[in-house]
Amino acid sequence: MAENSVVVVGSINMDLVTRTSRMPAPGETILGTSFATTPGGKGSNQAIAAAKAGGDVAFVGAVGDDTFALELRQTLVDAEVDAEHLREVPGPSGVAAITVDDDGQNSIIVVAGANSHVHDLTESELAAIANADVLLCQLEIPIHTVTAAARHASTHDTLVMLNPSPAQTLPDDLVDAVDVLVVNETEERQLGEDTLSRVHHVVTTLGADGARYRGPTGERVRADALTVDAVDTTGAGDAFTGALAVAWNRGPQEALTFAGAAGALATTRPGAAAASPTRKEIDALLARQS
Ligand code: RIB
Repeated sequence: MAENSVVVVGSINMDLVTRTSRMPAPGETILGTSFATTPGGKGSNQAIAAAKAGGDVAFVGAVGDDTFALELRQTLVDAEVDAEHLREVPGPSGVAAITVDDDGQNSIIVVAGANSHVHDLTESELAAIANADVLLCQLEIPIHTVTAAARHASTHDTLVMLNPSPAQTLPDDLVDAVDVLVVNETEERQLGEDTLSRVHHVVTTLGADGARYRGPTGERVRADALTVDAVDTTGAGDAFTGALAVAWNRGPQEALTFAGAAGALATTRPGAAAASPTRKEIDALLARQS
């Protein structure tokens, strides 16, 4: 079966990653163990994860005119994501200050920079959305742009998958256009049953407990987590979501299993975009665990 083509309309950041044995308490100064800059941003991470998982992927977003921009663009190109719709706007690129502790847990502060300038979608961007199998969005760019992209997709039979992160109240016209919500348990709680019940397909990631799915008639599917040695969970959710978009047409059970393997593998490596596995690696892990 041919994998889905995916257009991601979303964010791209440079991640400024500090590793530390434990998270500092408020007001406390502690010594870290390492520092690295590495490409990230939920939109770009998910686009790269989808491309590495075997999808035909295009990215719509913006970088600034700073020194990070070139590396961010190149990261998309290296992963064979179509970066034709990556705009350059005056000012800084998006950045994320990330702290990762010895258990692989993270905390993240995003400063949107160029991502906040993704406003009107061009004719060619709208055409790319209309021609794709899946539109995949997150909430690190202006929500009116996400809404416009989703509404356009839904009128052209492009499946709309939304990872509503960072969680915020969703406007009605966005909820009405979404086919698949991909949330973690915190986002699930924050959105509430009123919103979730209006979307046909809800996928909830459960960390070390795997993932669950609820379909349009209340049917449920569960995928257990695969056992791996986690070193950094930063890119896991994005690897899961990108792979899920690519495999969605296989049906919920297979798509969740495939995405779960991608997410698990992403925790075994440091970084966000760089951590997502290839299709071959995902298939090999699934073959070993079956
Ligand atoms: O989901 C992880 C991502 O969140 C990081 O790469 C960071 O840039 C933020 O967008």
